Amino acid sequence: MRQLNEDNVTDAVIATFANAPNPRLKEVMTSLIRHLHDFVREVEPTEAEWLQAIQFLLDTAAKSDDKRNEFILLSDTVGITMLVDFINHRKAAGATETSVLGPFYAEGAPEYPNGADMRGDRTNGDQGESVVVRGSVRDMDGNPIANALLDIWETGPDGFYHMQKPGEKPVFEFAGKIRTDANGGYQFCTYKPVSYSVPTDGPVGDILNGLGRHAFRPAHLHMIISAEGFDSIITQLFTDGDEYIESDAVFGVKDSLVVAYQTGSEPALEEQYGFEKPWWTVDYDFVLESSAN
Ligand code: BEZ
Ligand code: FE
Repeated sequence: MRQLNEDNVTDAVIATFANAPNPRLKEVMTSLIRHLHDFVREVEPTEAEWLQAIQFLLDTAAKSDDKRNEFILLSDTVGITMLVDFINHRKAAGATETSVLGPFYAEGAPEYPNGADMRGDRTNGDQGESVVVRGSVRDMDGNPIANALLDIWETGPDGFYHMQKPGEKPVFEFAGKIRTDANGGYQFCTYKPVSYSVPTDGPVGDILNGLGRHAFRPAHLHMIISAEGFDSIITQLFTDGDEYIESDAVFGVKDSLVVAYQTGSEPALEEQYGFEKPWWTVDYDFVLESSAN
């Protein structure tokens, strides 16, 4: 291992893994070192640039806490989160596709009856355009799945998740769980989601800015759908026609998850939810794969 040079230093590092007791760690580190060394050989960073890269990672760690993970945001905005999703969720044709969880999952949101109104406090009237989302959860053969759990969360009409504005609002706003009925049917009312910017006040925002990229996500509703005997899915329903549908900052859009909002007109729904402004409906059927496969 003496007199190494820029061509053989990679193999010298990898050779030190020879006795690694964990074969997966050895495999991962061998590939990582090869790619990182090739990257450095290709880019030929100056020492100042390499220190800048290390400072970037330090800043990314410093910006992270129990409410915000800047590393996940980094992974999201460079497409790695979705790449991991693609590899881990190669769904059979017809099964509902998956998308990113994102950092704002409303863990522990309350469960409401099917049909629930998740618009929260409306003492000052409707804060946004309302939507009734409805459909069913089915298996791959089209059979209804009763008692499937839909865990739903979205931003408010202002484009912020509840945990982005601590103290200001009730904790579980625009979020909740409902279960499908005996026919696999579900329905809930919420505000029509809006497009919003991912957080840009940290090092990831600086990188996006430096690359001339915008930080917006197309409007979407987040959901985790689970049922006994089936693979759970983390997914999102995206709004057709959104101005960012072709340029999601985290690359999460899949065609099968883009939904059309139809102008609402059914008097029974108007009466049930007391709409004050024009409202919408979205119909979407989810299909889960059996976990026995
Ligand atoms: C979200 O959709 O909530 C989200 C996903 C990735 C990064 C930031 C936000
Ligand atoms: Fe989101």
